[in-house]
Amino acid sequence: MSKSLLGIAAVALCLTAAPVLAADKGGGMSDDEVEGLFASTCGFCHQDGGRVAGKGPQLMGTKRSDAFIVNRIKHGKEGYMPAFGQALTDREIKGIVHYIRHLKPD
Ligand code: HEC
Repeated sequence: MSKSLLGIAAVALCLTAAPVLAADKGGGMSDDEVEGLFASTCGFCHQDGGRVAGKGPQLMGTKRSDAFIVNRIKHGKEGYMPAFGQALTDREIKGIVHYIRHLKPD
């Protein structure tokens, strides 16, 4: 009797815990989220989602390291690109680096 109750409790626990774990695993930003963020924050200069050069250089296919890209986003470049270290969270910057790495031609 108490054993089967324990079983029911265990199943209930699994059912409530599962969605929480699933949400945790996808903790990064969705592709759509990052694409929108890039378009509104960076797209003015890095055109066509960073695929072609505009006021800023093309980012698609960049040979720069993650550290370089993160640094450029956070600190910008005097006279060329504004710094986004205050405007964006680390999570958003990580998402953007991932986005740049996975850019494909339209
Ligand atoms: C006001 C225009 C402008 C905006 C907005 C802008 N950038 Fe830039 N960005 C530039 C320019 C210009 C350069 C080239 C600077 C140089 O000559 O080194 C650059 C360079 C870069 C580089 C380095 C490219 C390389 O290989 O040297 C990265 C990465 C980058 N931008 C990412 C971003 C991201 C991500 C955003 C949005 C969060 C953004 N930029 C917003 C103008 C801009």
